[in-house]
Amino acid sequence: MLGDKHTIALGGIGGDAHSVGLTILRQALSLSDYHVYYLSTQNRLEDFFAIAPLANVVMISSMDGHGRYYLRGFPELVRELKVDRPLWYVGGNLHLGDGVNCEHGFLEMGFDRAFVKFIDIPSVLEILKRDLNGVVPKRNGSTLWPQRNGREPFLPAPVSDELLDLEELQRERRDVLDMWPTGHAARNLEDNAEFITRQPSFVKAQAKAGANRLPILIQPRSGVSLVEPQIELFKAFKSAGADVLSYQVDSLTRNNNYAGAEQAIRESRATNVSHLNGFPVVNHGVPALRRIINAVKTPLQTRHSTRDPRLLAEISYAGGVTSFEGGAICYNIPYYRDYPLDQSLKAWQYVDRLTGLYYEKFGIVLDREFFGTLTATLIPPCLAIVVNVIQAVLAVKQGVKSVSLGYAEQGNRVQDVAAIRVLARVADRVLKNLGHKDVAVSTVFHQYMAAFPETQRRSRELIYNSAITAALSGATRVIVKTSVESLRIPTIADNADAINLVRRGVAEAPAVTLDEAKIADECALIEREAESILDSVVHSGRGSLASGVVQAFRQGLLDVPFSPSIHNRGEVMTARDAEGAVRFLCTGQLQLDRELKEFHRSKMQDRLHNKGQLLTETQNYLLVESDVLQIAREQYDRWPLHG
Ligand code: 5AD
Repeated sequence: MLGDKHTIALGGIGGDAHSVGLTILRQALSLSDYHVYYLSTQNRLEDFFAIAPLANVVMISSMDGHGRYYLRGFPELVRELKVDRPLWYVGGNLHLGDGVNCEHGFLEMGFDRAFVKFIDIPSVLEILKRDLNGVVPKRNGSTLWPQRNGREPFLPAPVSDELLDLEELQRERRDVLDMWPTGHAARNLEDNAEFITRQPSFVKAQAKAGANRLPILIQPRSGVSLVEPQIELFKAFKSAGADVLSYQVDSLTRNNNYAGAEQAIRESRATNVSHLNGFPVVNHGVPALRRIINAVKTPLQTRHSTRDPRLLAEISYAGGVTSFEGGAICYNIPYYRDYPLDQSLKAWQYVDRLTGLYYEKFGIVLDREFFGTLTATLIPPCLAIVVNVIQAVLAVKQGVKSVSLGYAEQGNRVQDVAAIRVLARVADRVLKNLGHKDVAVSTVFHQYMAAFPETQRRSRELIYNSAITAALSGATRVIVKTSVESLRIPTIADNADAINLVRRGVAEAPAVTLDEAKIADECALIEREAESILDSVVHSGRGSLASGVVQAFRQGLLDVPFSPSIHNRGEVMTARDAEGAVRFLCTGQLQLDRELKEFHRSKMQDRLHNKGQLLTETQNYLLVESDVLQIAREQYDRWPLHG
């Protein structure tokens, strides 16, 4: 019966997607005998108030630093809520800056608890127990609860890999460019092409690196709300040694909330403080981008995770940006609670067709990059590879001539080097087999992308040694983290320090030896897994890769760990083996043969000194929790984790 348990409503607010912490907290609360009503990510404040009368505690998580913005209506709503007031907890990353005194602000708003920085689960459970001591559990029947997270009836629109008809693209373009007033300035392709040809090109920089005429390209991250400070950052990065530049787009723009971004830009101007967690490209528009690239004269890329990326792509290219990140899978499944794949496939088909059109009409090669990083947390290489290759093929079918395939370091050097090598190899082979011989394939090494160490010492150690792995892997480009990753958005100095560390790591790499025999074994394993999963996707689409993607996620043939999406089955579980390599704890519906499954099982058993026994559910959950938190808690001896 539900009646004697306390009920906790738990969910994320705002545009942000981070669901690793929520996923684990949900499990921990359930195992601690609470009744959990799980709202997943991307809720509105109203959603929490709708459930409030049924809950003893409402926990709201905000991870992207925009908490104050999302929660601005909270004090009034709380005042209005008279009956059955639950306890209100708020947590996550609640402040863009150092978080000092920010707890007080949230308590004043009416929250009972505000966790402004990382807090571990046992502490949350402890506080919760104290707060609920003597509180009468609300008597809820689960039937009272709205069924929000159930699957939608499966009626996807038809999707296709065929080249998007030019007239259709042109019709669609008119609507896309009307979505926000700045769209208009991007409409003339001839004029854009004339501008782009005079700009430094991402594709050319990668070609030099790929031909070993340049060492691995170094790319820092940044993103502030105003143009001049963005230029200042770029100039500083360039003098620190960055080879290519990009901005992260803010999360209001990522959710196509241009009106919200406009307001934040005004506030930033008024206060001289960045009120956004990235650069609002659409609002600033084409002239601003052209001013930026004229000022920095370095190849430029847009990085984002925008739900509808079409206008952003139009404005980016028109502004001289020569590489655009994202794809139908990688900017959907890790980021959105309910974004049907047929819709994201269509949106990205537009972007790819537009990208290809610049080549078709003007001979301009623009690069398209995919985010194999996915949810960044314990992602096995085979999944990163398959997702990259599928999106690359879909893009190339729309005329794209340069693809960059991203992979995020997991921490075991042998596995990470093998992953980059297999990524390049499989992509090359698949594209050639399909008859596309003129496509440039680059690989991108993301320095560790999951929860980062807190101390400078461990962060800097990670960044330096990760650069060595990146260089040894033969990746075309490395995307740099900073030592303040777990604390704040980096300053110029933070980024300059990180670029320097990476340059030193890259220079040191030739002196470091790799265990080539172990790498060859790992390559063979990853390649076999990737081929097998890819085959199953191709089959399920019966000739159309796009419908293969829709079917595969539905059937679990593709399944991304820690995803917030209801279109992802979420049956696959991963953890580290004894050497820190990421292995499957549960393969769900992934099509891996018996021998491969057995390999993963024995690796996990070695890790637990648990030969021959099956792991219990609690063992699984505890293992995943400790692996997810291991790096942030700095419970490891050195980076990389092994060899
Ligand atoms: N400035 C600098 N780095 C950023 N990141 C995201 N937004 C910004 C920004 N405005 C980095 C963080 C994050 C990754 C996706 O990009 O490292 O984890």
